Amino acid sequence: MPIGLRSVHTLVLALALIFGMLLPANSRAQDAVDGQGAIPSDPLAGRIVFSDKGCIKCHSVWSQGGTLGPDLARSKAGLSVLQLAGVLWNHSPAMIEKMRERRIARPTLNTQEMSNLAAFLYFLDYFDAPGNADKGQAVFAEKGCVKCHTVGGMGGHVGPALDKYKKYASPLFMTRAMWSHGSAMAGKMAAQNVPRPHFEGRDLADIFAFIQRASSDSGGEKIYMEPGSPARGEKVFVEKGCIRCHAVRGKGGHIAPDLGKVELHQAITEIAGRMWNHAPGMWEKMREMNIPVPRFSDTEISDVMAYLYFLQYYDPPGDAVKGQRIFMEKGCVLCHYAPPGAKSLGPDLARSHAISSPVELCSAMWNHAPTMEALFHERGLPWPQFEDNEMRDLVTYLRSAGKTQETTAHTP
Ligand code: HEC
Ligand code: HEC
Ligand code: HEC
Ligand code: HEC
Repeated sequence: MPIGLRSVHTLVLALALIFGMLLPANSRAQDAVDGQGAIPSDPLAGRIVFSDKGCIKCHSVWSQGGTLGPDLARSKAGLSVLQLAGVLWNHSPAMIEKMRERRIARPTLNTQEMSNLAAFLYFLDYFDAPGNADKGQAVFAEKGCVKCHTVGGMGGHVGPALDKYKKYASPLFMTRAMWSHGSAMAGKMAAQNVPRPHFEGRDLADIFAFIQRASSDSGGEKIYMEPGSPARGEKVFVEKGCIRCHAVRGKGGHIAPDLGKVELHQAITEIAGRMWNHAPGMWEKMREMNIPVPRFSDTEISDVMAYLYFLQYYDPPGDAVKGQRIFMEKGCVLCHYAPPGAKSLGPDLARSHAISSPVELCSAMWNHAPTMEALFHERGLPWPQFEDNEMRDLVTYLRSAGKTQETTAHTP
């Protein structure tokens, strides 16, 4: 059964979710430690790290928590791991200062904790803000839904009434039904001369908000959907045959777009809208290849959507040449490079465990920041700031430098 979790429409539930009131004990289990880009299985596990490590004393998520620092759901949700590493680095001195001031011990974060925390912050952007019912009413009419479906007694009778969707807390239930009934609807649309609608931006979230408002259904108890496990979604993606047509970063079929290269870092209803928009193209290929149109259970659809959302969690490789420049310009070279025969103040980053995975780097940078900050201070060096994808380029450089060292070490 779906466990009661995030309601897209009720803040109270959102908060319950974050602070774990509704979660059974077993979903607190930790994810397996990330390797080079493992997909998280429970992105919500990080909300425990967020509170246990005291981030919550100064930061809030959706207005729950402290106010000394920014609300992270508003300011920094949805960053890739290495973007997050850069942001944490940038704000380290100010955070260290505030912690000292308030006598809050600075927490360290091991790889697993950082992994959970980063996935949690990334996941926050997936949950839509509630749609706008007025806009939804207009979209429902413009897209022709009203010609075939009634809601609250108004509309056509070609398709079933949609009032029953009021009892669902997430638009995913409705989009799942739209996916399963998609080809039957397409047939009726052709017969009725209604052009098949395309969805953009918040269209589906708005339609859902309209149904919630206009429905004559008494509602009854709300039905919630699990927020989804990207790791399980990866399995669904294989089992349902998506991978026969779609590659993900080169692995898989080549009949359809490589989904690792498509911008799917969007809210749930936007991803659902995309699947809808591209459905006729998919059906055609499925017919050609004799693949049945996949059907989903509620859990499967939320898992596969979460998986699609997490495809952009890890950064693609950066630019090593830019990375080398960053290493020089940001001053890392001053302490992390030793000319032959000399010893450097900090460890050789190209050989450090810290660059073995993005999450590893994120936690190493966080944990070592205070020592570095003291040294920067002592030497009167300015604390460098990382922008956009600079951290990614830096890591790409360090990794390639590490490989070069290995090969030269092996050459007689
Ligand atoms: C003692 C208070 C305090 C604690 C504890 C704290 N922070 Fe901060 N944090 C701040 C302040 C203040 C800022 C803004 C700093 C600045 O302006 O540079 C900040 C900034 C940030 C930012 C950048 C936000 C933005 O909008 O640019 C991130 C991300 C962040 N903190 C994450 C964390 C995480 C994760 C933890 C827990 C491991 C944590 N912080 C613990 C006070 C704190
Ligand atoms: C031309 C008529 C037509 C239009 C236009 C149309 N639908 Fe449908 N819809 C149908 C029919 C017919 C079914 C039932 C299909 C079946 O039996 O598989 C259906 C099924 C559905 C279902 C599943 C209903 C259930 O009982 O679970 C949903 C949800 C839905 N439509 C939403 C929409 C939305 C939202 C729009 C506008 C964007 C829309 N439809 C536009 C004809 C239409
Ligand atoms: C038989 C081949 C086939 C299968 C199986 C298939 N797809 Fe597709 N998919 C396509 C084609 C072809 C397109 C491009 C269609 C178009 O643009 O009209 C597409 C497009 C998409 C898009 C939109 C990409 C974009 O550019 O925005 C998404 C998302 C997607 N598919 C997800 C899935 C998922 C999830 C599954 C498994 C449940 C799946 N597909 C199964 C062929 C397939
Ligand atoms: C003023 C000297 C100094 C500068 C400049 C400096 N670091 Fe460091 N760094 C250190 C020292 C010393 C350590 C070891 C700290 C400790 O033991 O806690 C360290 C540790 C690290 C670690 C952890 C390495 C490991 O193997 O665990 C990383 C990652 C790191 N630094 C990255 C950087 C980056 C990126 C820059 C440039 C933006 C930089 N450092 C600039 C002195 C410096």
